[in-house]
Order: sequence, then C-alpha cells, then structure tokens
Amino acid sequence: MSENIVLCGFMGCGKTTIGKRLAKLMNRDFYDLDKYIESKEGMTVSKIFEEFGEEGFRERETQAVREISQKGGAIIACGGGTVLFQKNVEEFHAHGGVILLLYVPLVMLQERLKNDKKRPLLQKPNRRQVISDLYKQRISQYRLAADITVRATAPIWVVAEKIAAMDFTVYNKTEQPKKT
Ligand code: S3P
Repeated sequence: MSENIVLCGFMGCGKTTIGKRLAKLMNRDFYDLDKYIESKEGMTVSKIFEEFGEEGFRERETQAVREISQKGGAIIACGGGTVLFQKNVEEFHAHGGVILLLYVPLVMLQERLKNDKKRPLLQKPNRRQVISDLYKQRISQYRLAADITVRATAPIWVVAEKIAAMDFTVYNKTEQPKKT
C-alpha cells in the first residue's frame, strides 16, 4: 500500500482545493479532516467550537487523525491547526504518512481570508493582525512537522501537478530498507 500524502499549512493555503485536485490526478481517495469531523459529529466546525470550545475541537481532531491515518494511499487535507500537535504528526508518520506543507506568504493569506465567515479563529476584530499573530506563532511549527515544503502560490492545478510528480517513497518514515 502506498503512503498517505498529508497536506498541512495555514488556513487558506489551499489544502482542500489542491488536495481534491491531487487526488483526481493521482487516482487516490481524498479525506478532508474538517469535513470528516463535521459529518461524524453532525455539526459544523464553528458549532463544535461554540459548544465544546477549541479544546473540544482538538480532541475530536486527534481522534479523526487516528482514524484517517489508518487509510493507505490517501490524500489527506488537515485543518490549519492539526500538525501543531506532535501527537498528530506522530500518528501520521506512524502509518506511513508523508507530510507536505503548502507554503503561502502571509500577505497572500491575509488577502484570501479577509472575508471569511466560517473559520472560528478569525471571527474577531482586526483580522489582519489576528492572522499575522497566528501565522508568526505557527510557521516554524509547520516547517518542523513537514517532510517537504512546496510553494503553493501558483494556480491550484499547477501546484497539484507539481506535487503529483514527486517521489513520495523517499520521505516515508515507516519504509523498511530493501535487502539487496
Ligand atoms: C483551524 C483551521 C481550520 C479548522 C479549525 C481550526 C486552525 O481548518 O480546522 O477552524 O487552527 O487553523 P482550515 O485550515 O481548513 O480552515
């Protein structure tokens, strides 16, 4: 079974849109972590934050990571906070997941997210500053979690094709050395 390709990065970097495209190109199953949680819980991510707080969401997210990382050969789109937790990173790696960071610079993310109404962490005054603070806290953690970083500023199909052409087997941490 081939490795899971796990897409991580800041909100708005294109994890879901690029992931869907990539899954089609590579003929693999696609899982979106947030969507998976929403259908399991029967409520939106915003509602989960409202009812159970961020902590309640993170518990559900970790459980979803446990379940989805068992799949083989899938494309998995994380939420923006998923790989900030080492236990989630370890779970992906333990099941042969290769973690890929979709890198998009801060100003571009601020532009893409300026009218967002769905993401609970952004529904606050002074959004540009909120995004900037979160981005600065997180970027080094994304880089640490990721096995590969890809610049994701080009159109979706260009980024997806670039990723599809990569050899992921070399990044699979569970792969056993082949006997010669
Ligand atoms: C979050 C990002 C969201 C979602 C939740 C928390 C975060 O996913 O998981 O709102 O902590 O950055 P997207 O990155 O898909 O928006």
